[in-house]
Amino acid sequence: MWWKNAVVYQIYPRSFADANGDGIGDIPGITSKLDYLKWLGVDVLWISPHYPSPQVDVGYDVADYTDVNPEYGSLDDFRTMLNEAHARGIRVILDMVLNHTSDLHRWFIDSKSSKDNPKRDWYVWKDPGKDGGTPNNWDSIFGGSAWEWDEATGQYYYHYFLKEQPDLNWRNPEVEKAMFDSMRFWLDMGVDGFRLDAIGTIFEDTGYPDHKSPYNAYDAIKAFWLGKEGDFDPEEVSQRFQWHFGLQQDLPEIHDLMKRMRQMIDEYDDRLLVGETSDLKYLGKGDNQLHAVFNFDLLAKNRLSPEIVRQNQQKWLVSVPHGAWFGNTLNNHDQSRTKTHYGDGVHDAELARVSAALMLTLSGTPYLYYGEEIGMKDYAVQSFDEVRDMVAAVYRRLMREDGRSDEQILKDLATFSRDRCRTPMQWDDAPNAGFSPADVQTWLPVHDSYAQGVNVAQQKQDETSLLHFFRTLIHLRKTTPALLEGSYAQIDPESSEYLAYLRQTDDQTCAVFINFTPDAQPVAYRFNGTKVLFSSGNRSSIDSVTIDLQPFEVLIVELL
Ligand code: NOJ
Ligand code: CA
Repeated sequence: MWWKNAVVYQIYPRSFADANGDGIGDIPGITSKLDYLKWLGVDVLWISPHYPSPQVDVGYDVADYTDVNPEYGSLDDFRTMLNEAHARGIRVILDMVLNHTSDLHRWFIDSKSSKDNPKRDWYVWKDPGKDGGTPNNWDSIFGGSAWEWDEATGQYYYHYFLKEQPDLNWRNPEVEKAMFDSMRFWLDMGVDGFRLDAIGTIFEDTGYPDHKSPYNAYDAIKAFWLGKEGDFDPEEVSQRFQWHFGLQQDLPEIHDLMKRMRQMIDEYDDRLLVGETSDLKYLGKGDNQLHAVFNFDLLAKNRLSPEIVRQNQQKWLVSVPHGAWFGNTLNNHDQSRTKTHYGDGVHDAELARVSAALMLTLSGTPYLYYGEEIGMKDYAVQSFDEVRDMVAAVYRRLMREDGRSDEQILKDLATFSRDRCRTPMQWDDAPNAGFSPADVQTWLPVHDSYAQGVNVAQQKQDETSLLHFFRTLIHLRKTTPALLEGSYAQIDPESSEYLAYLRQTDDQTCAVFINFTPDAQPVAYRFNGTKVLFSSGNRSSIDSVTIDLQPFEVLIVELL
């Protein structure tokens, strides 16, 4: 169960390291940074889609499941990267996009070619509805209708995401076989497992009933992008997601499929299936489904507070079934970066350390996102030309139709477009941050902050940097059994502004204290024989019974 004790690091291949100097990250780039990743202490790389793809959804639109995007390199480059990672004791998991393919995948091209093509039924095709329009009122989570008209064959096809991402029809056993074969291709090569993209969206209700919701597609996409702006309250945004459940998402049939997939992967030694879902049902109960799901609840909050973390941990730790597991995460390629998201504009640097300490001391596998370890921040796109996230293009179209001005739309995109968290990794302070040669135009702009110390080279030199903070805590986690596998118990008073918890195995007990505020906090816990394992406040020992935590202090002690 290596995946239980691992620290996972997510790589967005287009943005990690550009070895051939064309402005786009690639597989040899990843290989060249393995020593860095080893130094940092991560155990597992999760690589976002690296397959051939027209890149409409930056690789989440796969055109061939058993090859490498030529922009990123070759299968041989991939094998080299995998072997080099394994040689350093680093495992590699891939992103498996099961719900949909690219509209340029051979399967869809065939499916679309005629109504009697053998691949027709591999996708979800429907006749027009009674009024001659779309088959029903279902919407795409990225905005607009989920149905796209095909003039040539006179039917609509279904897409939960972009229209360039047609949904596969998993009710056809040939689809399951083809996708399992694709997974086997990588498992046979030695890949250690998969993160399963959008796993809940695989099945739809075959009765295709209309949603009975008061929302329309415009409201939905507005809520998706502007939910945090106050146009819609968070409750409405969450309802908007619920709207899909049971019709377009999380149908009961999914669980039998998960069991079959688990049986398939269990034919191999010790591989991992982690689903992009927070729904514990995917872990099964007594019947094996996925090994792990994500605790996304912290990431969904606008700020972190001790209260939020306490509630979150209580919920997760009692509900995860025996033998199953979960990952904690605060950012990924779809979300605002940690340093921006949980910052308050004044103490962003301190709060980034608080967030890191949380990830690396809580129960649950930490999933870190490239650049988080040096405090990369969200990038605000400056013009429509810079936008690469095609969801932003859908948003622009819908909002224009709705009368919103371009100026206003650009302002929205600067804050919300997923480009914000996908800019090139910042390796040093040379132009282009050492990601690409200086004279190359990178696929997304490099964030200016690379020149102000937010880069690997500079932070590596500075033992007080965020990078060293991450590295120290990663190593502490890995060498402290209680932090890795210990139980969790809250020891702070309910309403305190600091967080304190015990992590405990049979042989070791650690206590973690995290002050979320700029003020000193008197701690209610009575210290009596402790060894300091880590203190951001430079405490080397504790010789009094009570202490005040310093502003934003992170303190980890072992109880003797
Ligand atoms: C979830 C992925 O995280 C996101 O980036 C992608 O756009 C959708 N799934 C569709 O594949
Ligand atoms: Ca490249």
